[in-house]
Amino acid sequence: MISNILDGRKISAEIRSSIKEEVLKLKARGINPTLAVVLVGENPASKVYVRQKEKGCGETGITSRKYELPAETTHEELLSLVKKLNEDKEVHGILVQFPLPAHLNETEVLAVMNPEKDVDGFHALNVGKLVSGLPCFEPCTPKGVITLIESTGIPIEGKSAVVTGRSNIVGKPVASMLLARNATVTIAHSKTRNLQKVVAQADIVVAAIGKPRFITADMIKEGAIVIDVGINRLPEGIVGDVDFKEAARKASWITPVPGGVGPMTIAMLLQNTLLAAGKQGEN
Ligand code: GUN
Repeated sequence: MISNILDGRKISAEIRSSIKEEVLKLKARGINPTLAVVLVGENPASKVYVRQKEKGCGETGITSRKYELPAETTHEELLSLVKKLNEDKEVHGILVQFPLPAHLNETEVLAVMNPEKDVDGFHALNVGKLVSGLPCFEPCTPKGVITLIESTGIPIEGKSAVVTGRSNIVGKPVASMLLARNATVTIAHSKTRNLQKVVAQADIVVAAIGKPRFITADMIKEGAIVIDVGINRLPEGIVGDVDFKEAARKASWITPVPGGVGPMTIAMLLQNTLLAAGKQGEN
């Protein structure tokens, strides 16, 4: 089988264009959707992500307010900024870019954030709601993964889904969201025995293990949907967790890296910001 390419750039552009229309409708009601983006320190990858998020806001008419803090920022200073943004009626979404410098505590930062402004879906209340199947802010990358799978038109229900990787940001929430859609879900990770065999029985593979080209074609079941969340920087450029060229011969649908999940993450952040603005605007 030769795969169809799941074009994240194209699907994300379609979503952004519908968000743009919804933003105009909110503005007509006097609501100006606004995202506060907090970047602490000089992590080069974080700077790139933050720039992409701001660009996405600009394209859709969402106002982005950037707070760039020096790497030496104290924990108290960061918490006090987040609390200030919680109280600011003009700000609908707050995003603190991770990872934070080592002396800052990410868990505590999330704990003080108003969960209704947590457009990343990282606050414990939103995580708990996600696992319980309650309405919440769904984290952006997992939401992008599900949107890509659903765009194929192939039902998730009843399928065997294997997620490789168990991070709080991707693996665990993707697994919850697939389970909520009635997939039979396995989470595989670095300690999984016979990982190759586990992945090889999957109808849906979500690769989020963080190892370049770790998932090879021999692990892919003929006709599987393969979603590659990996972003690995190698001398020859950015590659995913899947050996794309070979795996594409066996999958029915597969995401490229770059141009697959990445652009979807941004679109989902904008969607969550729009949702937050709509909800808070009703108050
Ligand atoms: N670091 C890596 N991914 C993310 C994300 O989705 N949101 C934030 N805030 N930080 C991240």
